[in-house]
Amino acid sequence: MQTNNMFNYTTLDETKVEYLEIAPASELPNGERLFVDLGDKPVVIFNIAGQFFAIGDVCTHDDGPLGDGMIEGFNVVCPRHGGEFDVRTGQAVQMPAVVDIPAYPVTVRDGTIFIGVPKA
Ligand code: FES
Repeated sequence: MQTNNMFNYTTLDETKVEYLEIAPASELPNGERLFVDLGDKPVVIFNIAGQFFAIGDVCTHDDGPLGDGMIEGFNVVCPRHGGEFDVRTGQAVQMPAVVDIPAYPVTVRDGTIFIGVPKA
């Protein structure tokens, strides 16, 4: 699958990342999702069985709102045409989506969620 230099924490260089404070982890219980804007980047954070995953909220197929999609395992299903992405990596895993989306590292410090973004 193509990556188009999208940010992806599976190839993370910690020296090139800064962590932004997002919200108390208590605001994102298991099975829920939280929408945030990181500058010009819409991001959705999922809590799947107590683990947090942050991805870009725009489908690479035709700009579908991924954050409105169903979660199946670790995949989010685009509500527009059914493309799927692995929320752990951003990898496109189901047609018609073929281009990966950004995936951001998430960490919880003192009960607060932080998302890692590329340093400017
Ligand atoms: S817009 Fe997401 S699969 Fe088409």
